[in-house]
Amino acid sequence: MPGIDEYLKSHARRFEDELCELLRIPSVSADPARREEVRRAADWVAGQFGRLGFAAETISTSGHPLVYAESPAVPGAPTALVYGHYDVQPADPLDQWTSPPFEPTRRQGNIYARGATDDKGQMLTHIKSVEAWMAVEGRLPMNVKFIIEGEEEVGSHALEEFIVEHSDRLACDCVVVSDGAQFAPGQPAINYGLRGIAYYELRLEGPDRDLHSGSFGGSVTNPANALAAMLAALIDQRGKVQIPGFYDDVAPLSQRERKELASLPFDEQEYFEQIGVEGAAGEEGYSVLERRWARPTFDISGLSSGYQGDGAKTVLPAAATAKFSFRLVPDQDPAKITAALRSQLEELRPPGIEMKLTDWHGSAAVQVPLESPYIEAAARAIEHAFGTPPVFTREGGSIPIVTTFHDSLKADTLLLGWGQDDDNTHSPNEKFSLADFHRGTQASARLWHELSRIAT
Ligand code: BES
Ligand code: MN
Ligand code: MN
Repeated sequence: MPGIDEYLKSHARRFEDELCELLRIPSVSADPARREEVRRAADWVAGQFGRLGFAAETISTSGHPLVYAESPAVPGAPTALVYGHYDVQPADPLDQWTSPPFEPTRRQGNIYARGATDDKGQMLTHIKSVEAWMAVEGRLPMNVKFIIEGEEEVGSHALEEFIVEHSDRLACDCVVVSDGAQFAPGQPAINYGLRGIAYYELRLEGPDRDLHSGSFGGSVTNPANALAAMLAALIDQRGKVQIPGFYDDVAPLSQRERKELASLPFDEQEYFEQIGVEGAAGEEGYSVLERRWARPTFDISGLSSGYQGDGAKTVLPAAATAKFSFRLVPDQDPAKITAALRSQLEELRPPGIEMKLTDWHGSAAVQVPLESPYIEAAARAIEHAFGTPPVFTREGGSIPIVTTFHDSLKADTLLLGWGQDDDNTHSPNEKFSLADFHRGTQASARLWHELSRIAT
């Protein structure tokens, strides 16, 4: 495919500029004030397919729009469904960004912006690879469908419904997702597992208004105290979640897999240095990679109550809220976790406190079988572009919709992350290496060639 690789090289700079265009749109799905911006990002993506001459639509939903596109049919050839998301996480804390989050900036071979790696940059690699095929060959060697959503960062509710309702239209032999990371710089990976997630908000209410903490303290339950105590009781010092039944369905790691994970070239010391912490935390008896990829967790993501301004204010707050989640592993069921959590919180709730638990979203963990011609094809494509074969890894993050692809489309997903662990996803100064952007595009272009040779 010299013509295609040549095209990718000679248009690399324009691809970067186009990525910058998309990155300038602040498509924060969680922020109702950005609704129009989110739509603008959807239109931008749809415009890309329109220019390729693909049948493309922006589909309105009860939430943010979906973009769906299909390449011209190649009868008898396999069909891949590319999934990606054009929505991004909120950019705060803004004061910690070196350059503003929605003013993409090139520095040291990276592009810095919210969404650079998660997932605008990675998603775009598949659009640009398809563009190269259309420009050079006038056609793709197989069928490629695209479903690009705007609600991944808030739980993919509209997409889930869409897939269930339109499973015929989305029918495919495999799903392709680039929304994750390589194992290390220079070491690409194919992910064969993602953790699931169960995300909640807990609100505790006590007195019917904020009170003077001196006049009233000690006589009524303080919702902030209660929240701290209840959350602390959900996990012990050894990193074990303290909810009856929580571990019942956890699939243990096999000896073989533990060996394989241990053989990956992972330097724990370097890892902690890179994050800026002194040492490890977590569940006893498991390596850092096992803790991140194959064990369930409990993490608080937000806490709010009482006085948050400058200086001191002696107040006994009327209410307190927390946002928190559990990462889940095979074969934990988010619905069962919710039920168990609810009854445990009910146990822990002190007198004088009313409790409201909101279940924001939940999805089970994902495992992809490694013995498949699709995985082999992807490995060859990656080796072609990155110059080295991929290692096989799991991931700690979640892409809930992959479960739906499996259940509704009966298709396995190729998880081909082009990012790096230090890309600062969801953090200030998110970046994507331009070299990874271009190698990812090259690997994607090669993937269509490799997949097209698999008999269907
Ligand atoms: N791209 C990430 C998931 C991810 C992160 C995969 C790291 C592999 C490595 C995705 O955009 C994401 O952030 N997902 C959320 C899911 C949630 C909002 C339902 C997550 O994992 O927190
Ligand atoms: Mn993502
Ligand atoms: Mn994300």
